[in-house]
Amino acid sequence: MDRGLFITFEGIDGSGKSTQFNLLKEYLEQKGVDYIVVREPGGTTIGEKIREILLNKKNDKMVSRAELLLFEAARAQIVEEKIKPSLEAGTTVLCDRFFDSTIAYQGYARDLGLDRVMDLNMYATDGLEPDVTFLINVTPEEALRRRGVRGEADDRMEALGMGFQAKVANGYHEAAKRYSRIKVIDGHRTPDEIFEDIKSSYEALL
Ligand code: ADP
Ligand code: TYD
Repeated sequence: MDRGLFITFEGIDGSGKSTQFNLLKEYLEQKGVDYIVVREPGGTTIGEKIREILLNKKNDKMVSRAELLLFEAARAQIVEEKIKPSLEAGTTVLCDRFFDSTIAYQGYARDLGLDRVMDLNMYATDGLEPDVTFLINVTPEEALRRRGVRGEADDRMEALGMGFQAKVANGYHEAAKRYSRIKVIDGHRTPDEIFEDIKSSYEALL
């Protein structure tokens, strides 16, 4: 049996990433593809506990190295519990954020180092990498506007503000230069227009 496809979605907070993730999910559903959806951090019993620690605004004393290792710990858990077994069973896995988030947020915006983060990423996943990554690219200003429309309270990461989001965006651009699996998608269009690009890229993989 062929291994399932591993597809990840990335972007700064409010980029419209989850909207595109859901459109691809609906598309796979319509096509009768065998798939699962997961998100990071979280997606397992242990991972959801780590997520609560990471995103709770009360944890304002968390140092960056602890933050990095907690994201990696949640990742190791979901890779072993859910992602690898599904891929091995031939199931397509859609993941809302994966290790490129750690490159952009911790490696670049927290300045912990891209190479170190990539080494830890590969340790956490035991060498597993996505087949394709859709990076929804919008300006930090537009992402902030969209988050305002969505109207949810900021979590600990979102509360870091515009300057931080701008660094994260640069981190994603660095990652996209390094890894050809990352497809940069212009997010300054309607959801349907953006999804046309994602659909074509997905079809081309099959
Ligand atoms: P993310 O998962 O990146 O945080 P969401 O998909 O939740 O972003 O989108 C953030 C907000 O922007 C939501 O209110 C959503 O309806 C809106 N949105 C999503 N895509 C677009 C788009 N292409 N144009 C305008 N608004 C959008
Ligand atoms: P979440 O609510 O899942 O964000 P979104 O809806 O935008 O996907 O929150 C996850 C937050 O954690 C988000 O701000 C990005 C951040 N993050 C990291 O800093 N490093 C990581 O490795 C991951 C996976 C997420």
